[in-house]
Amino acid sequence: WPAFADDVDAIIELKKRRNAVVLAHNYQTPEIFHGVADIVGDSLALARKATEVEADVIVLAGVHFMAETAKLLNPSKTVLIPDTGAGCSLADSITPEDVRLLRKTYPGVPIVTYVNTSAAVKAESDICCTSGNARAVVESLGVERVIMLPDEYLAKNIAAETHVKIIAWAGHCEVHERFSADEVRQLRENHPGVVVLAHPECPPEVVAEADFSGSTAAMASYVATRQPPRVVLLTECSMSDNVAADHPGLEFIRPCNLCPHMKRITLGNIRHALETMQHEVTIDPRIAERARLAVERMLSVG
Ligand code: 13P
Ligand code: SF4
Repeated sequence: WPAFADDVDAIIELKKRRNAVVLAHNYQTPEIFHGVADIVGDSLALARKATEVEADVIVLAGVHFMAETAKLLNPSKTVLIPDTGAGCSLADSITPEDVRLLRKTYPGVPIVTYVNTSAAVKAESDICCTSGNARAVVESLGVERVIMLPDEYLAKNIAAETHVKIIAWAGHCEVHERFSADEVRQLRENHPGVVVLAHPECPPEVVAEADFSGSTAAMASYVATRQPPRVVLLTECSMSDNVAADHPGLEFIRPCNLCPHMKRITLGNIRHALETMQHEVTIDPRIAERARLAVERMLSVG
């Protein structure tokens, strides 16, 4: 921690001066997550809590689509992302044209879009979802069939839990697609009794081998309530680090994978963002209006 003290102190001071808050995703490194964040959570919690922010400035310690969601829900506030290159392989896997084509191919079938997409893709959709509410969103529509994009594995994992038929797209998360069912079996052999939690962006055969699957917040809450003595979180590495810091008595087994996009955010560039008020996230108002509607519809689902 001493290595970070200078940046942490400077960020705390700058937050006061700018009337700013830092929203951090669960995949941010512990010095950000535990050191400077005012609000932490999964994508759903960050979207919900973004609507309650009273500060003038939001620094989004996470990836670009999360900053766009915060801006959609707070059009009058300044939203900063410390590194504009913090993208997402899922968001990159689909364009607005792709969505328009899907709508033509499946007329009348509602389009549910994962929040891990650009605002332009959200604008072409009927409703958004996150890993924390995907099933509830799909079932809230009261239809037999939906299109769910762009994460093929999330779509297939939700399809396994619901009676609604799901048409999927072929996008994948570059972090979660690397886990395999063999790896889980090997883990169980090497670490008897280990409880395996998997994010629903993992391939269905990995989720099938796991004891529990849920959003990053659901995984954290599983650990907090069940206190498994030995546990592995099949997700991004910082997630285990952050949850482990809250539960020093539990054994966290790692394999985990790093998200290169999440890791672009550092204490140094959060400090720089607050010093220079860069990089401001802006969304074309014609896109923002329709994209906001899709996010707000999602937030109105219980
Ligand atoms: P959560 O919404 O579960 O936090 O997931 C976001 C994400 O990017 C997972 O890779
Ligand atoms: Fe995107 Fe995967 Fe990184 Fe999450 S972990 S931001 S889904 S690439």
